[in-house]
Amino acid sequence: MIKKVAILANGGDVSGFNAVIRAIVKSAEKHDIECYGFIEGYRGLLKNEYIKLSTSQNSRACGILPKGGSIIGSSTNANVFNYKVEENGEIVYKDLSDKCVQNVKDDGFDCLFILGGDGTQKSARDLSLKGLKVIGVPKTIDNDVACTDITFGYNTAVSVATEALDRLHTTGETHHRIMVLEVMGRYAGWIALESGIAGGADIALIPEIPYDINKAVEKINRRKELGKNFSIVVVAEGAKPKDGEISVAEVRDNGKGVDNTKLGGAGEKVTKELQKLTGMEARCTVLGYTQRGGTPTSFDRVLSTKYGAKAMELAIEGKFNVLTVLKDGKLDCVSLEDVVGENKEIGAVSGNTKESNIRKVTMDDDLIKTARSIGICLGD
Ligand code: F6P
Repeated sequence: MIKKVAILANGGDVSGFNAVIRAIVKSAEKHDIECYGFIEGYRGLLKNEYIKLSTSQNSRACGILPKGGSIIGSSTNANVFNYKVEENGEIVYKDLSDKCVQNVKDDGFDCLFILGGDGTQKSARDLSLKGLKVIGVPKTIDNDVACTDITFGYNTAVSVATEALDRLHTTGETHHRIMVLEVMGRYAGWIALESGIAGGADIALIPEIPYDINKAVEKINRRKELGKNFSIVVVAEGAKPKDGEISVAEVRDNGKGVDNTKLGGAGEKVTKELQKLTGMEARCTVLGYTQRGGTPTSFDRVLSTKYGAKAMELAIEGKFNVLTVLKDGKLDCVSLEDVVGENKEIGAVSGNTKESNIRKVTMDDDLIKTARSIGICLGD
């Protein structure tokens, strides 16, 4: 019997965080289970900072379904197995995971619901090996968590990108320009590909297909021959040329075992090359954090609610150390061990490493086939 649980939201925020929190709290209330939220993800777990969550009138978790962000905050890049601390004026990295485990045990939490992407779920699995009972919920706009068809937050990001493409269409058409939109997604091209189809892009460049810029030029020129004096290009931030590198805006120092690479610049690079090679005016828009902020779509509200309710159901059944997933439209769960794949080493988290088990676009995906069928140029 579980009596007291806590939620932890970690990593970059997405629309839908609060919808998951609300669903967990509501399901807990139905079973007279006390529910708390750690403040700012793993950082709060380490500092043992948490608040009571309730959906009763004027309580913290009341009225949060359409609200963006996270009512319990979230920390990006807090790896408690390799935590950045200052000691005697020097930066050192320490394994503080035992303190987290102790906090949970001392305060009698029967289960920890961990909302996050691949890095966060890797830490969840590592904490489970230290004896914590955890249940993961897959979050990220990038849609790159292994073992699930979809993460919450992704659909909202695609909707925002689609609306941006619609808006770029009208201005591009008016001024006979090439309009480039850089979208997020890290090392996966899901947002670019899906919004590219939804927003009628002519060219979509994704990390999984290193591009030949000449193929994009050919597509634009063919359109010109047909009297179409504008083109719409969506570029994933992780897209790279066939014989080149990924575009990096900054390399940070947020701790070991976390992804310290901040991507950026892919859209601008493509824009400059297309302008030079086609002789047309080209403009770049970087969509950035609008993809993560604000109210979730109805799809994400429902998905988040399903995930939250399923997570509580699993806790009541005593099924721990799993991730809630959606497979072929059905809610299910998989072991966190499967989610981390070959990324077995405790403390190692995320990033573009060969071990990190992220779900990228595969060439047999229906989105790829559909894009090709209707003539969207994928840069190859
Ligand atoms: O993983 C989500 C994401 O929004 C990526 O799409 C993007 O590359 C990254 O986070 C940005 O991270 P930060 O919030 O640290 O700038």
